[in-house]
Amino acid sequence: MPSESTSSNFSADEYFATQPPPPTLEHDVAAVREFVVHHSATGRKVVLVTSGGTTVPLELNVVRFLDNFSAGTRGATSAEYFLSAGYAVIFMHRQFSLQPFSRHYSHSTNPFLDLLELEPSGNIEVHGKSRSELVEVLAAYKNARESGMLHSMTFVTVNDYLWLLRAVSKELAVLHNRVLYYLAAAVSDFFLPRQRLSEHKIQSGKGSLLIEMDQVPKILKPMVDEWSPNSFVVSFKLETDPALLIPKAQASLERYGHQIVIGNDLHQRKFQVVFVSRDPRNGTTTETWFRMDPHAVDERGRPREIEQDIIAELVRRHDAWIQVK
Ligand code: PMT
Repeated sequence: MPSESTSSNFSADEYFATQPPPPTLEHDVAAVREFVVHHSATGRKVVLVTSGGTTVPLELNVVRFLDNFSAGTRGATSAEYFLSAGYAVIFMHRQFSLQPFSRHYSHSTNPFLDLLELEPSGNIEVHGKSRSELVEVLAAYKNARESGMLHSMTFVTVNDYLWLLRAVSKELAVLHNRVLYYLAAAVSDFFLPRQRLSEHKIQSGKGSLLIEMDQVPKILKPMVDEWSPNSFVVSFKLETDPALLIPKAQASLERYGHQIVIGNDLHQRKFQVVFVSRDPRNGTTTETWFRMDPHAVDERGRPREIEQDIIAELVRRHDAWIQVK
């Protein structure tokens, strides 16, 4: 039962030695390998976008689980801008979270059926004002799929996520500095090892429930040092206390030695982010803020998205980094 106090901190190696891989891992990795071989030949830059939140199941036959905040908006939106910038995209996302292109027709904000009109003849028409936008989104979607530029894969639990990230980053390592990691997923910090999971639904008759969880290993470190060295790694830091954003981002850069942390405050994340980077020669950090007017529109008259600025800046920095690598 998860109420016993037997917790410990796992290193990444101990984690993978004791926690079982997801059953679809081999199949997922084979598909990524094919994608990598293809884009190794095309010479394109490749980005792995992680998106959405991971869960932590409390039971083996899962009825209850803990979840991490993220609708997947950041990742899905960013994937579209990376495609526009010519990157081949692996979109590793939480099952049923937002996805590139279909995100424009989310059931909660813009239900697809409401855009359609049923004619007396039985034909279906798209409302006039929605038509041109749909044509544009559909064309970009079809192009991404048919050109083999977008490959999607899913995770649900933090265990799925960790196994997938390790396997995919080992596959991508062959592309060296052409790979960019864009780690926007919200990953659980604590988990329950399989060995301590209750097999069946935890019963409620015994009063309050105490759960002691173990810390999820910080896998950015082995990823940067061992699994995919020579790649350009961008992680995110989400905070609710704005005063913590810069110090936490700086600590993350120092600890993992990667290229950029993008800090975002929960309530401002759609309009304001900060890039924090560190000069490895002297350890000095630089902060660059990106802010936009929440009511701004883009060149096509649609609401402007801060991901447009984020990706433009990352492409610029990735290219500059490739030049000196
Ligand atoms: O999807 P939206 O609703 O638009 O929300 C987007 C977002 C706010 C979730 C996104 O912009 C964001 O900030 N994502 C990261 C949230 C966060 O702080 O995650 P974290 O604390 O779990 O991890 C920080 C970084 O370390 C992440 O890049 C993560 O990939 C990495 N990490 C985390 C845990 C772990 N064990 N190993 C890791 O490498």
